[in-house]
Amino acid sequence: MKRPHVLASAAVSIDGFLDDDTPTRLVLSGPADLDRVDAERAGVDAILVGAGTVRADDPRLLVRSPRRRADRVARGLGPSPLRVVLSAGALDPRARVFAEGRELADTVVVAGTPDEVLGRLAEHGVVRLMVEGGAAVHRDFLAAGVVDELQLAVAPRLVGAGPRFTGAPGHAHLLETRRVGGDVLLRYRLGDADERWLAEACTLAERCPPSPSAFSVGCVVVAEDGTVLATGYSRRDHVLDHAEEAALRDVDPADPRLPGATMYTSLEPCGQRASRPVTCAQHILDAGIGRVVMAWREPPTFVGVPSGAARLADAGVTVVERPELTDLARRPNRHR
Ligand SMILES: NC(=O)c1ccc[n+]([C@@H]2O[C@H](COP(=O)([O-])OP(=O)(O)OC[C@H]3O[C@@H](n4cnc5c(N)ncnc54)[C@H](OP(=O)(O)O)[C@@H]3O)[C@@H](O)[C@H]2O)c1
Ligand SMILES: [Zn+2]
Repeated sequence: MKRPHVLASAAVSIDGFLDDDTPTRLVLSGPADLDRVDAERAGVDAILVGAGTVRADDPRLLVRSPRRRADRVARGLGPSPLRVVLSAGALDPRARVFAEGRELADTVVVAGTPDEVLGRLAEHGVVRLMVEGGAAVHRDFLAAGVVDELQLAVAPRLVGAGPRFTGAPGHAHLLETRRVGGDVLLRYRLGDADERWLAEACTLAERCPPSPSAFSVGCVVVAEDGTVLATGYSRRDHVLDHAEEAALRDVDPADPRLPGATMYTSLEPCGQRASRPVTCAQHILDAGIGRVVMAWREPPTFVGVPSGAARLADAGVTVVERPELTDLARRPNRHR
């Protein structure tokens, strides 16, 4: 079944709490992390919280930064993502998620299992969903195995009592640790290895400087032992850059891990191009990479010329397609 890519995001105390046990709202994140979360909100199609969070915190769930809202509008999106409240009960219509910011975003109330809710959101065009809590919603989404990326901001405080961040037993792959003001961001990916790296490549594509005519593509090169050898995205260093060549620029051609490495790319590598003499398929062959996993295959633009994937396969490279990630790969290419 089709479902959105799910980014679960939470701020926790050092001792793992999401809130304290008082009725007032506890804001765990510092200003730098709140701004980081604002940027993540700007990058999704919808933000979901449980009714418990609406009742306890009364959030607005809007993109705060006017610049980020303007950026979204320039990309053909609404100023702020759709707001989704998970509830089977009664909600106060005066809650800010309903009463405020209606000119910036719609709000819908949904009920059902995580799978059902995600299926319905996908039907309504939600490709990237951010789940912001609270405790019950995080637990249920993690237990349902539908979380693709998890971002935890650990705030420098101890809380002692209150709702905790809880999941279900399982493993996650640590992608990044970053200091954000006084907080620490931990970024994880879940799912099988191909799925998580390909989703990461699609996420990198969201960083591409916009172009009215060229594709926005993301690329990650991963060694057999899971080490990231390089990442790239379209127009990263130069307006003509393709994601794959930007990534391969950062790789030492003598690196012995290349034959065992996999390149994850949101779009099929080009087998023909007008902008530069060397195609990405050729760059991949020159680097000696043994395996390529891609999310989206475009119909060939140059009739009679073998596609990049065909060139790679002919040369003995293992080529894998994961069509369930095509929508995610297409998202930064909405104009196409
Ligand atoms: N630190 C953070 O990042 C962060 C973020 C968000 C929230 N929080 C904290 O988390 C706490 C709230 O968490 P919580 O566990 O109490 O509530 P919650 O997870 O926000 O919401 C739980 C509610 O969601 C609704 N719901 C859940 N699954 C559903 C389903 N399958 N179908 C229909 N409705 C469903 C139910 O609402 P109904 O009763 O309406 O049916 C349920 O009571 C607050 O203390 C808040 O401060 C912290
Ligand atoms: Zn290319």
